[in-house]
Amino acid sequence: MSSRLTDEFVERVRSESDIVSVVSGYVSMKKKGNRYWGCCPFHQENTPSFSVVPDQGFFYCFGCHAGGNVFKFVSMVEGISYYEAIKLQAERLNIPLPQREKTEQEIAREQRLADLQKVHEMARSFFHNCLTKTHYGVPGQRYFASRRITPAIIEEFQLGYAPDAWDKLSAAFLKRGIKEDLLLESGLVAQRRQGSGVYDRFRNRVMIPIADERGRVVGFGGRVMDDSQPKYLNSPETVLFNKRKLLFGLDRAHRAIKQAGHAIVVEGYMDAISVYGAGIHNVVASLGTAFTLEQCKKLLRYASEIYFCYDSDAAGQNATVRAMDIVKETGAVVKVISIPDGKDPDEFLRHHSADEFRALVAAALPIVEYHIQYVLKAVDYTNLEGKVNALNAMLPVVADLRNAVELNGYISRIAQILGIDEGVVRSELQRFSKQPADRSAASGTAMRRVVRRADDAIRRAGRVVIRVLWQDSGAAVHLASLIPIEAFSNAQHREILQLLLEAGSKGTAMNDMMAEEQLSPEASEELSRAMVEDFGGQDPLDLYEDCVRTLRREYLRRRYEEHRLKADELQRMGDDGFWQELKESQRIKNEMDEL
Ligand code: CTP
Ligand code: MN
Repeated sequence: MSSRLTDEFVERVRSESDIVSVVSGYVSMKKKGNRYWGCCPFHQENTPSFSVVPDQGFFYCFGCHAGGNVFKFVSMVEGISYYEAIKLQAERLNIPLPQREKTEQEIAREQRLADLQKVHEMARSFFHNCLTKTHYGVPGQRYFASRRITPAIIEEFQLGYAPDAWDKLSAAFLKRGIKEDLLLESGLVAQRRQGSGVYDRFRNRVMIPIADERGRVVGFGGRVMDDSQPKYLNSPETVLFNKRKLLFGLDRAHRAIKQAGHAIVVEGYMDAISVYGAGIHNVVASLGTAFTLEQCKKLLRYASEIYFCYDSDAAGQNATVRAMDIVKETGAVVKVISIPDGKDPDEFLRHHSADEFRALVAAALPIVEYHIQYVLKAVDYTNLEGKVNALNAMLPVVADLRNAVELNGYISRIAQILGIDEGVVRSELQRFSKQPADRSAASGTAMRRVVRRADDAIRRAGRVVIRVLWQDSGAAVHLASLIPIEAFSNAQHREILQLLLEAGSKGTAMNDMMAEEQLSPEASEELSRAMVEDFGGQDPLDLYEDCVRTLRREYLRRRYEEHRLKADELQRMGDDGFWQELKESQRIKNEMDEL
C-alpha cells in the first residue's frame, strides 16, 4: 500500500496528524466526555452517529459502519487512495516527501503495468481503425447503423470491430514487437490448443472499449452481430481489469453525475451508450455482474443518489432488489427508474425521445415505494399467510423511514392495501425496529431473533476484549490459552485477534497504522468500532473478565454440542465409542456450570 513511502516518513506524518482537527475540517464536531460526535460525512443523517476518540486515533460511524484511522478518513472523504491520503496529509503539514530509490522489483512491476496499459490502448486503436478505416469493418458499420449508433457516438466511445479472422490482431501486434506473453496476459489473445502460438480472442464482433475512471482502457466487451452465443465476450480479469470495481462509462459520466446529483446505473453497455447518446450523460453500466459495494462507493464519491434503471423483466427486477440491498448500508439515496413494456433503456430510446426518457428519470420511485410495489407483485396477499409474508417483506424498508409524516402515510397505505388493521402494521413495525442493529436477515421467527440477540452479546464481548488487548497485546497469549482464536465465530474478530496474538508474542505495541496496513477493510472497521464504542459508560477493563467468561462459555457450549452430536451418531451406529464422547460432553458441561 504505502510501500513507496518509508516507514519513518509515514510514522512522522501520522504522529503530526491530529485526527480531531483533520475531521473537524469536514465535519462539525461536538465534544462529549472523551469523544467527539458529528453527522457522518459518508451517509445522510440528521442525528450524529459519527464518532472520534482522539486518544485511540480511530473514527467510526455507528450508522454506516465506516471506520478507520486518520488516513482512512482522508482517503474516504477526498475519494483518494490510502497512499494518496498519506501524501496529502504530509503536504498539509509541510512534511517533505522522502526521495527513495524504487526497488528493481517495483520498477519491473510498474513497467509491466505500463506495457499492459499500452497494449490495451493499441488494441483500442486497432479495433477502431478496423471499423472506421478498413473494408473489414463493413459488417460492424452495418450493425451499428442498424442500432442507430451514429458516427459521433462511435467516435465518442471509440467503438470498434474485430475482424473475422484468427490472427489479425496477434499478427499485427507481434510484428510490432509486442511479446507473446504480454499479449496473453492482456487476454486479447489465447494459447492455441494444438501446436504453438496464439490466436485472437475477439473475432467478428463489434468492440466496446472499457476504461477505468481516468479513461485508461483496461478491457473490452465484444458483441456478436447476430443471435449466436455468447452474445457478449469480455476480456478476462487481469491486473488492470476487475469487473467488480469498474463501472462502464464512469470516465465520461463523473462530471455529469456530480452536476446532476445522481448517477443512473443501467445493466448493459448498449444501454449506457444509448442513454449517453441521447444527451443524458450521468449514466454508467455495471459490467454484467451484480452491482457491488465497491461500485456503490465509487459512485458515492460523485453524488449521494443512485438511480437504478435495470431491464423491466423479472431478472432485472430481482437484480434491482439485490442492488438496493447492497446499497442500503452505505446510506446512499436510491431510486428506481421503471421502463414500460418490459424494455431495456436502449430499446426504449429506439422508440421514444430523450425527453420521454428524462420524464422516466423524473418519475423515479423512491426505494420504499418501489419495494412495496415489488412485494405486492411477488406475493399473493389474498389469504392470511400471504398478508403476513407481504408485511414481513415490507418492514425492513419501511422501518428505515425517518420522516414521521411519510412513515404514517405508508403505514395507512399498507394497511389499506393488505386489508389489515393499521394498529397491526404499527405494532409489527415496532417489533421489527426493536431488533438489534444487524437486521439484514429481516424479520424471522421468535427463535431466530433470540439467536441473533445472543450473537450480538458475543460480538460485543469480542469487541470489549479486542479494545483491552489493543492496549496490551501481551495479554492476547493468555486469551488464546482460554479460547483458541479459530473458535471465534466472527471472521473479523479472528483476524484482529490473530494480529494481536502475533504482536503480543513478539512484544510489539499496536497502533492505528497496523490496523490499516495489516487488516482487511471489514476487520479494520470492526476494530475501529471496538476502539470508539462506549460500553455503557463503563471502563472496558472492568468488563474484560466478564466478557472473556461469556466468550469461553460460548466456546464450551459449541464444543459440548459437537461431542453430544458425535455421541448420538456413534450410538446410532452401535459404536461403543459413544461413551467416550458422552463423558467428554459431560465434562465440558460441568466446566460450563462452574464458570
Ligand atoms: N453480458 C455479458 N455476457 C453475456 C451477456 C451479457 O457480459 N453473455 C453483460 C454485458 O455487459 C451486457 C449486460 O450483461 O451489456 C446486459 O446483458 P443483456 O441485457 O443480455 O444485453 P443488452 O444490454 O440488452 O445487450 P444488447 O442490447 O446488445 O442485446
Ligand atoms: Mn438491449
